[in-house]
Amino acid sequence: MTDVREFLESAARSASAHLGGLDERPVWQRVPAGVAEGLVGQELPETGADPAALLGDIERRVLAYPMGNGHPAFFGWVNAAPHPAGIAGALLAAAVNPSSAGGDHADVYLERGVVRWIAELVGFPHETGAGLLTSGASMATIVAVGAARQRALLATGWDVRERGLSGAPRLTAYATAEVHSCVGKAIELLGIGRANLRVVADDGAGHLDTAALREAIAADREAGALPFLAVGSAGTVTTGAVDPLREIAAVCAESGIWFHVDGAYGAFGVLDPAIADRYAGMELADSVALDPHKWLQVPAGVGCLLVRDRVQLRATYSLVPAYLRDDSADELGWYSEYGIEQTRPFRALPVWAALAARGRSGVAADIAACTSAARRLDELVAKDPDFELAADTEVSIVAFRFSPAGIDDAEADRITRDLAVRIQQRGRVFITDSLYRGRPVLRACLINPAVGEAELLLLLEEAREAAAELRGTE
Ligand SMILES: Cc1ncc(COP(=O)(O)O)c(C=O)c1O
Repeated sequence: MTDVREFLESAARSASAHLGGLDERPVWQRVPAGVAEGLVGQELPETGADPAALLGDIERRVLAYPMGNGHPAFFGWVNAAPHPAGIAGALLAAAVNPSSAGGDHADVYLERGVVRWIAELVGFPHETGAGLLTSGASMATIVAVGAARQRALLATGWDVRERGLSGAPRLTAYATAEVHSCVGKAIELLGIGRANLRVVADDGAGHLDTAALREAIAADREAGALPFLAVGSAGTVTTGAVDPLREIAAVCAESGIWFHVDGAYGAFGVLDPAIADRYAGMELADSVALDPHKWLQVPAGVGCLLVRDRVQLRATYSLVPAYLRDDSADELGWYSEYGIEQTRPFRALPVWAALAARGRSGVAADIAACTSAARRLDELVAKDPDFELAADTEVSIVAFRFSPAGIDDAEADRITRDLAVRIQQRGRVFITDSLYRGRPVLRACLINPAVGEAELLLLLEEAREAAAELRGTE
């Protein structure tokens, strides 16, 4: 690379041209077969490309076929439009390229500060070192469940780190059917066994029934198991339901089990005063998983785990090989002693930049813009003769289905099931679907503050036209 400056400036121009042109292009389109095959099957070049040709290739074959989540008419899954400051932070983090495993360099200290900021944003008590950035909430959940497992077994005299699980007391965990699949994955991966993740009844609207939780814990104890973990959702992925966190915390405290909150999608909703009271009790958890790469609009690859007691993480994960010299400036040790990764990317800088560029009030305003757009969409759906709400809109996900007068549930379900893909193929808005209480639903996830009335109206118009195509009545 001859001229680094010219090259990086050109790359920055490509990035801003990409972002600037997003709403003139389809929100999403299929990658043409030739392009996809070319990307998969391309030959490893023997010699290096000219920098301008390299950037041109990225623009033509990669930037031209995005997932769509930067676009204001993207309502799919839980994927954010990246904040410009977050993009700049990601670029500069890559330029420095430390391993944030630990040591005496700025990225390590910045991560401590940023984790504290995240704790402050959601009102979780924090002592320095009680949390870390991860690749996402799935990884944060594995780290939390691993610590909960270690604590529970150690209390019975069983050191799982030393002895493994064979012959250990049988652990049981608790959550509703609406809990995110990453919890099941963590339970599987940590050798606890999916059958030991008890599905606790809910109140009919996706909120964990704490009486049922109490009973399930008592029944398992009676049967000789070791209940060790309950998970509450601060915003489920399908409907955004927030579990009764304070009540779950009380059951966990009385039962002596670890209380984990999955706030990956929804925890930052607490910043909107209109819905903040739904989150009461989140601050009582032993751990909270959150995702800066969702609602905080940090470029993908950044989750966060907050824990009440940092000692629990270090006791679970600290395994320091001889080749690593502990040159940290404080007694907290390395981040790699608090989680699973050894080499860790500089995640703190994009998070810091995306927060510092807006400040607390700016972030809160962005969150409130999304929740209020969701309430508006809820209103539009409620009065639309072609659609019905499938659940209450609690945070910023609106779950709804096609249900015009004169069609039965089976036909409504058939159309709703195929609707998301048909809408996506039309290229003007992007939405995804799920199953809720056994029935297909469209779920519009609003985490982009740029979404306005025009996009909401467009979503319903596109859904109506796509449904007409599916029914053959267009
Ligand atoms: C509620 C919830 N929990 C956990 C996750 C997993 O997060 P990640 O994709 O960052 O691993 C998601 C992802 O959408 C989610 O919505």
